[in-house]
Amino acid sequence: MDEYREATGMPAKVLVVWESKHGSTADISYSIAGVLRQHGLRVMLADAAKSIPDDPFDAYVVGSAVYAGHWMKHVKQFVHDRSEALKAGRVWLFSSGPVGDPLAPAEAPVDVTTMIAESGARQHMIFGGNLDRSKLSFPERAIMSALRAPQGDFRDWTAISSWAEEIAHSLTHKEARA
Ligand SMILES: Cc1cc2nc3c(=O)[nH]c(=O)nc-3n(C[C@H](O)[C@H](O)[C@H](O)COP(=O)(O)O)c2cc1C
Repeated sequence: MDEYREATGMPAKVLVVWESKHGSTADISYSIAGVLRQHGLRVMLADAAKSIPDDPFDAYVVGSAVYAGHWMKHVKQFVHDRSEALKAGRVWLFSSGPVGDPLAPAEAPVDVTTMIAESGARQHMIFGGNLDRSKLSFPERAIMSALRAPQGDFRDWTAISSWAEEIAHSLTHKEARA
């Protein structure tokens, strides 16, 4: 039995928060939440652009799609506004955006340093994104054509579920706690 269960009799309560424009990052969040639930964790999901529960959680997984090198605004606001609560829990961040083989751009989104500082996150992961031209607005299609960005779904579901497994392990095993 893990440390949290010993103290409370309950599995850790985890909030998975994301912001997504075309749904691909939301799908990643659902997949992560599914893995965490399989490990018996109590998981809530929240779209940062809609509403986010106010109560504190033991752990947070926070993700954003990347546009023009940046995280999306509502999820950035969430991290900023809830900095204290986040720092009191355990936090993992992810970005989803790069496309192609190899994935590009390779650099982390510019806000990640601030997001880590404000949340006290233990890790930030970058997962490939999904570029489906049929879902893009006309200006988005024009930008992607100018950049010659390859179309396709570059989300690596094996990498995503392995990462979620690591998070679940860390939340359910005493020895993994730093
Ligand atoms: C106009 C536009 C700009 C983008 N800029 C970036 C970027 O700077 N860095 C990146 O990694 N991905 C970028 N992407 C790729 C998206 O992040 C990727 O398609 C992602 O999966 C979209 O997530 P969503 O479906 O959750 O909105 C861009 C996509 C579009 C359409």
